[in-house]
Amino acid sequence: MCGIVGYVGARTCGPILLEGLRKLEYRGYDSAGLAVHDGEKIEIVRAVGKLDNLARALEQNSLEGVTGLGHTRWATHGRPSEANAHPHAAGEVAVVHNGIIENHLELKQQLESEGIEFSSDTDTEIVAHLVDSALSAGAPSLMEAVRSALKRVRGAYALAVLCNREPDRIVVAKSASPLVIGIGEDETLCGSDIPAMLGHTKHMIFLEDGEMAELTPASASIETIEGDPVQREPLHIDWSPVMAEKGGFKHFMLKEIFEQPRAIEDTLRGRIDLEQADVLDEEMGLDAETARRIRRVSILACGTSYHAALAGRYWIERLARVPATAEHASEVRYRDPVFTEDDLVVAVSQSGETADTLAAVRAAREGGAHVLAVANVLGSAIPRASHGAFYTHAGPEIGVASTKCFTTQLVGLLLLAIQLGRRRGTLSADRARPILQELLRVPNEIRAALDYKDDVFTVARHWQHAQHMLFLGRGLGFPIALEGALKLKEISYAHAEGYAAGEMKHGPIALIDADMPVVVVMPEDEQYEKTMSNVQEVRARDGKVIAVVTDSDTKAKQVADFLLKIPPCGSTVLPLITVIPLQLLAYYIADLKGTDVDQPRNLAKTVTVE
Ligand code: AGP
Repeated sequence: MCGIVGYVGARTCGPILLEGLRKLEYRGYDSAGLAVHDGEKIEIVRAVGKLDNLARALEQNSLEGVTGLGHTRWATHGRPSEANAHPHAAGEVAVVHNGIIENHLELKQQLESEGIEFSSDTDTEIVAHLVDSALSAGAPSLMEAVRSALKRVRGAYALAVLCNREPDRIVVAKSASPLVIGIGEDETLCGSDIPAMLGHTKHMIFLEDGEMAELTPASASIETIEGDPVQREPLHIDWSPVMAEKGGFKHFMLKEIFEQPRAIEDTLRGRIDLEQADVLDEEMGLDAETARRIRRVSILACGTSYHAALAGRYWIERLARVPATAEHASEVRYRDPVFTEDDLVVAVSQSGETADTLAAVRAAREGGAHVLAVANVLGSAIPRASHGAFYTHAGPEIGVASTKCFTTQLVGLLLLAIQLGRRRGTLSADRARPILQELLRVPNEIRAALDYKDDVFTVARHWQHAQHMLFLGRGLGFPIALEGALKLKEISYAHAEGYAAGEMKHGPIALIDADMPVVVVMPEDEQYEKTMSNVQEVRARDGKVIAVVTDSDTKAKQVADFLLKIPPCGSTVLPLITVIPLQLLAYYIADLKGTDVDQPRNLAKTVTVE
């Protein structure tokens, strides 16, 4: 999705804005631009394609000034072109925007009837004209002109606006798309996401829907769009700028795969009481009384987070004996869902901003459900819209393909299942303790799984040209089969399908022949024998088997064509380990193919449109 960055202070802002945009590249974009106030007027430079094209354009026309805006655009209205790239200028103002103006056609017709001509196909340019018209009509300040424009606009937006006549300020506004303000020393920044500003400040204010703010070097004054003042203290974000760097790895994704042991240690730290065999209530975002009271758990999420939700459902039913479902958040609102006060709804989202998940949270709250968010970004929209939050401490995840956020979400959901089980009396301390001990061993087991990376590379080299791949798994292996397939298709663009192994004979078996590699998640667990039967069925049809197996497993070695090994580990935590070779397999195949691993085509890290 689009990325916004803004700066007002005393330093030349062009390089700060460009650097900020580089930190937002992972969000996905197809063109970019900067607008800088040079003291007399606003200058704009834009370019189609990657930021290097914008950097080259800036060499021809370096923008000098201390107040400016930057933007990376992910096309929604109008194809990727220089004319459609942001910032958009109209008269005295320049605007950058993330989101969609829903009543753009109606507004455009009104403006055209007033004689205004448009130079782009975007909905954003409409906002620029609305603000400029308000200034021409006598609005006393940029803040008031933006306010009057917003009153005519319907839709989702994060906006930042710069004005010729007020060179020392930026006005920002938010409705449904994220907008964060960074409070520095004698300078103020804004951005769509924290990494854009981390190099300059760790003090961030998250704007809420329906709010706007006037940013000057010395202050950020927040008001509602109706004009009521808002007081909000900055949050201290303890991510370091280095956490958002590649640190010697070829790609962010590879770095993030290898960071998983640390991310899980950080997520577990201080949350477990081994003596009581329990999880600390105050760390879960859910109080003991609610845990006891609820009669159903619905876990809602999209994409990879949905796969974590599927594993969470399994754990909650098994350990807490409460009915649990996992559902695509993108579908919930379209089926007129029934939520009641007896429901616990768990919204899982690494970004905390996914529009579909946020909409599902709102639907759940309307029904009276208690909502708990599992998120990685402190203060993001989904935790804010929920009653409580469990924060995974994965640190910033920059690669579009989620890895460390997935495994830390699994940790959060397993801790939740244990907490529910302990509070509801379905999980004794004697049963809970070994599971907690299993969890504490996971970081080292992931390290051991990562040590098999060269073997995974060998398998990847063999299959790098595969056009299709089938992934099968049972029980806790099923969400991992789905996740392995999603990782592969996201970054290598190969067609990959994940299936419950038991479903194979109900259809997918028709696909199997000598050209169909089948990845089977089959660690030595309760389902091992049954999954082994699926392997035999694949072999009987000449399919090639790539098996994810425990390294001590001698039977699998005889039947599989290729092995992806994991160390022995407890059966409850298996998904946290079996996913590791599949993340590496997807990564190596994509890298061998030469795709843009960290920013795969058509994908965005934070999906703020429905
Ligand atoms: C993961 O690799 C994907 N890029 C995508 O499926 C992602 O998990 C999904 O968009 C949900 O994102 P969220 O966790 O930020 O809500």
